[in-house]
Amino acid sequence: MCGIVGYTGKSAAAPVVVEGLRRLEYRGYDSAGVAVHTGRGMEVVRALGKLGKLSEALAERPLAGNVGIGHTRWATHGRPSEENAHPHVVGKVAVVHNGIIENHRELAHELIAAGARFSSDTDTEVIAHLVQQALEDGARTLHEAVRRALGRVVGAYAIAVLGTDEPDVIVAARHGSPLVIGFGEGEMLCGSDISALLSHTRDMVFLEDGDVAELRPGGATITTVSGEPVSRATKRIEWSATMAERGGYKHFMLKEIHEQPDAIASTLRGRVDLEASDVHASEIGVTPEVARAIRRVYIVACGTSYHAGLVAKYWLESLAKLPTVIELASEVANRDAMFFEDDLVVAVSQSGETFDTLGAVKAAKRAGAKVLAVANVLESAIPRLADGTLYTRCGPEIGVASTKCFTAQLASLLLLAVYLGRRRGTLGEAIAGEVLKALVAVPGHMHELLGDADYVRSIATTLANAKDVLFLGRGHNYPIALEGALKLKEISYAHAEGYAAGEMKHGPIALIDAELPVVVIAPKDATYDKMVGNVAEVRARDGRVLALATKGDEAMHDLATHIIWLPEAPSWVLPLLTVVPLQLLAYYVAARKGHDVDQPRNLAKTVTVE
Ligand code: AGP
Repeated sequence: MCGIVGYTGKSAAAPVVVEGLRRLEYRGYDSAGVAVHTGRGMEVVRALGKLGKLSEALAERPLAGNVGIGHTRWATHGRPSEENAHPHVVGKVAVVHNGIIENHRELAHELIAAGARFSSDTDTEVIAHLVQQALEDGARTLHEAVRRALGRVVGAYAIAVLGTDEPDVIVAARHGSPLVIGFGEGEMLCGSDISALLSHTRDMVFLEDGDVAELRPGGATITTVSGEPVSRATKRIEWSATMAERGGYKHFMLKEIHEQPDAIASTLRGRVDLEASDVHASEIGVTPEVARAIRRVYIVACGTSYHAGLVAKYWLESLAKLPTVIELASEVANRDAMFFEDDLVVAVSQSGETFDTLGAVKAAKRAGAKVLAVANVLESAIPRLADGTLYTRCGPEIGVASTKCFTAQLASLLLLAVYLGRRRGTLGEAIAGEVLKALVAVPGHMHELLGDADYVRSIATTLANAKDVLFLGRGHNYPIALEGALKLKEISYAHAEGYAAGEMKHGPIALIDAELPVVVIAPKDATYDKMVGNVAEVRARDGRVLALATKGDEAMHDLATHIIWLPEAPSWVLPLLTVVPLQLLAYYVAARKGHDVDQPRNLAKTVTVE
């Protein structure tokens, strides 16, 4: 994971780099560091802990200079410590790296045998040694030395490199980990994603695997690792820097929960045609012929995105009449997963960079399947590999716990089901029209739910001391039970489990007692009557029930211990609504416990390792 930033220009580099790192801190936050070329040589400051610690260290030891690189780390090789924090400096070279160098042990043995001394446990340090060795062996420029070094490494990397002898140069390169370069006025930047560069420029080049760029304040030249020049188109990015600010909210997560009505409106914009009861999505490259030729949808995803995929299975099967398989992307690599040429493989990923999902996409491509990405981050690895992308378009999501991207994924996947159903002739105008009308009304219903946030906060006090919480749902509410449990556990650190309510009698009912809170998702839909039965069973065993129920449901009101009201809405869109109070619940429980909601322990937003 990790985030990297580089700056060369007329401003003081350290503050620019630290500001960029602040926007990348979601990628990892166990240590951080900056190296600046002072004009006479390089100076480095590193600190264990979050970025605030680095800022404190820089306040004590300011770094003056106009060229710098920085890093925020999520440890893979070597525990979090100052020694393992990047940049790693060897001789005249400083390196920051995101990725994993697979052959670092062999390279380190070889370098040690040749007299090198290592000062960290990281895989990254071999890159710094190799670049330094190339300089000693006669490489004429830093760019050439980096290219020679990269010719030796196997694995994934995005790197930025500073060299003592070229005071205004940064060399940036990528293979398998994301890296974007930004063109400012008399300044150049590089970073792990666009949010790190947005306050300086919106004109960006997304480096391709194998690109090695030399950045100077006036521009960039890009070559392959073997030195052939390559040209890459500059793209103008529509996101603004303020989209990545907290905007008065205490945490990004709370802001992002409240952004959901706008996020959904943005996902739907220009895609819903209520007059024709149809969906416009030519960007996904699925023609009516292709839609009709698909025999199966195979969804691959991780975490919250997997839960969105689970909901989509219900929609794809009922609206597009497509048998749908869904699998945790991390499990695809553990067996001989079978993909076929007439599969539509749908890779759902907020970041578009998740290692396991990317691996599943590669396997699907090798088998000749058509791959569609549902992603949020523009030009990320999965969309770049896919045959088409349905972007969720909900702006940057910074909180590690995914919220607005989940509901935007749901909206996108429901659009996909309608789009495929219409083209395959399995979905008539009347039902398609109903679904789309329901979708368009979702932002309004979400506003209503968010208006009750204070009430959810008061209920959260009843869960604040719970060590275990059970979430139950049936049908399309079952993935929402899983998602509610995931949200609670990742930020409140309480053990929470989501279960299909029909499975209660097959085991979990043994857990029910007066101590275990049970959150029940029971809107008035096809699953309702059976859910009433489940609630009665829990209550009969002295269990405490927090029910999510449709406004006016007196029976549930009498049965449950606490109730959160849901607006009346067509069943198709309920998963986009039932999840909102569960997100708020998780948020308020965690905030009450004083946890770092946006950067929960041990987690990172983008999981680019296996
Ligand atoms: C969500 O709250 C989690 N932090 C996590 O499960 C996430 O959804 C998962 O890592 C997949 O990420 P992606 O959507 O970027 O692929």
